[in-house]
Formats: sequence, C-alpha cells, structure tokens
Amino acid sequence: MKHIVSGIQPTGSLNIGTYLGSIRNFVKLQESYPEHHFFLFIADLHAITIPRDRQALRRTIKELGALYLACGLKKEKLSLFIQSEIPAHSQMAYLLQCFTYIGELERMTQYKEKAQKQVSGVASSLFTYPVLMAGDILLYDAEYVPVGEDQKQHLELTRDIAMRVNQRIGEFFTVPKPLIPKVGARIMSLIEPDKKMSKSDDYIKSRILLLDDEVIIRKRIMSAVTDSDQSIKYDKVNKPGISNLITIYGAITNESIEVIEARFKNESYQSFKKAVADVVVEELKPIQARYKEIINSNELDAFLDEGRLYAEKIAMKKVAKLNHKLGLGRKQ
Ligand code: TYM
Repeated sequence: MKHIVSGIQPTGSLNIGTYLGSIRNFVKLQESYPEHHFFLFIADLHAITIPRDRQALRRTIKELGALYLACGLKKEKLSLFIQSEIPAHSQMAYLLQCFTYIGELERMTQYKEKAQKQVSGVASSLFTYPVLMAGDILLYDAEYVPVGEDQKQHLELTRDIAMRVNQRIGEFFTVPKPLIPKVGARIMSLIEPDKKMSKSDDYIKSRILLLDDEVIIRKRIMSAVTDSDQSIKYDKVNKPGISNLITIYGAITNESIEVIEARFKNESYQSFKKAVADVVVEELKPIQARYKEIINSNELDAFLDEGRLYAEKIAMKKVAKLNHKLGLGRKQ
C-alpha cells in the first residue's frame, strides 16, 4: 500500500496558518488519495529542541491530537500517533545522521533563523532536527509528504538522504515527494505580514488560534495590519497584509483570487475584514464543537493506541532491515 506521511509539532496552540497549510490539506488529500494510508503524527521529539515545561507540553500534545480528529479527518486508512511512543523514530534519526553531511545541515534556513534567536546554549538537536524529520518520513516509505512552504527545504534534504542511502546499499527507501497546497502554504502574521504566522511568535495578536472564541477572532482580523490604499487587490509585495487576508478567505472558501477581488471591488477594508472574520468563524465553529467532545472522551487515547500499534510494526521492521544492511549486530 502507498503511504502519505506528515507531522505537526506540539509547540503551542494550533493556529490557522498551520491549519490551512497542513491539517485542512490532509482532510482534502484523504478524498483525492483514497488508496493511500495516512500516517499523521504529533512531532513531540521535535518540540524538545528548545526547553519546554513538561506539563504544558503534555497538554499541547493532547490538544493537538484532539484537533487532528476535530478537523474532520476520516479514521479509515489513518494512523494517528505520538512520535516519541515509537522509538524507531529516534533510532532511524541516528542511522540517517551517518548519511548526512554537516554542510547540508548548516544550509538549513530554519536552523539558521532559530539558532540566531537564541543567545546561548543552542542544543545540537536543533541542528540535527532535519535528520529526525527525514527519518519520520523514510521509516514509512512515504510517497507523498503534505507540508507548508517552510518545510520544502527539509523535504529536499530528505530526498537527498534517501537517494544517497539507495546509492550506497541498493534500493531501500522510497524517495518522497512534497505536496504543497496551492493556496494557504504560507499564511502570514496578522501584525507583521512579511513574516510567517507562527506558533512561537511572541505576539499573540499575530495569529488566530483554532480554539479562539468568536470575539477574539473578529478582533484579531479587524485589527490586522493593512496598507492605507483601500483597494482589495492581491499584491504580495506592495500589499502583504490585504493579500494575506485574501489568501485566508480563498483557502477557506476555495474561491480564486480573481473572484474575491471582483466581489469586493467596491468594498472598504473594514467590510472585507468583516467578511474574512465571518468565514473564519464559520469554519472553526464545528471544529471547536467537535474538539470539546473529543477532549472529554476516551476516543483520542483509543485512536492513538491503534495508530501506534499499526505504525510501530512498520517502523520497527524498517529500522531492523537497515541495521542489517549496514552490518550492525550479529544476524547474518
Ligand atoms: P510545524 O509544526 O512548524 O508546522 C506543521 C505544518 O504546518 C505548516 N505551517 C504553515 N503552513 C502555512 N502557513 C503557516 N503560517 C504555517 N505554519 C506552519 C508547516 O509547513 C507544516 O507542514 N518539522 C515539522 C514537523 C514535522 C514533519 C515531519 C512534517 C516533523 N516531522 C515529517 C512532515 C513530515 C514542523 O516543525 O512543522
């Protein structure tokens, strides 16, 4: 069976950037790839490259698990699991480090940006993080990996590592392809629209959380930074704020930029922002209702157990095979 793999870090409450760039896309992809099995996970090992409060991390892991389900993923052909519960992820990361060059990791823009922000004590795991991610993908021989724009470089590295391993030991890994959504692959901050909307941004006003209530959502969108031009036109360079709102509106309604521009041609920014807020609120309502049901039930734990059991078998086998291919251990 062919596989699709992706993950999200539990580093903070989920925002609509992550939602539009990933989970919403997963839901759509389940429709367009009905034959594929989906491995979606909570990338908690990735989250500890920076020190975290353990209670907060545990809470975020559970919240993310519940949100995955609340966003409408179908349970058939889906294994949802927590990365750290399958030790093969850490094991594969080490094996792949033996096939990854320091120079390649030094070129990763996310590493450079994150390391720059930290004054001292940058953990080596922040540096090797893309190899852990490559392992997440290659363990399951993913054919496709749906991600947002910011993960593209990590995907390219994953492909390079897979090809290098295949060259050295013979065909072993499927070389994965990224699946980046046409609209919504890079949702920007609401207050600094030249920066990505991010879970780790210091400014809470920069983002809308999936669990924000209606009043907050409306407030955030109405106060989103825009230019003073008052024309609702998509122009990423000169009008990044309004372009971001057009993208959010279009990603949710599935309408093209042209259709949106034409509809709001004679409207003010004020009334367009109200329309954006309306579609965001409507999109999030059923997700929030479903979230409340899931978080107070045993449904999530049961599904995570099931997901772990299914994924673990595949992952363990793959690591054992690679160990053997590399001459590790005693088995002939
Ligand atoms: P993370 O947790 O930062 O983000 C999860 C997914 O959401 C996308 N995304 C966005 N898309 C559009 N606009 C935004 N503002 C935005 N912010 C985030 C990301 O591109 C990503 O697809 N390293 C990964 C997690 C990971 C992973 C993997 C992904 C670990 N192992 C294996 C795929 C396959 C990360 O930190 O994503």
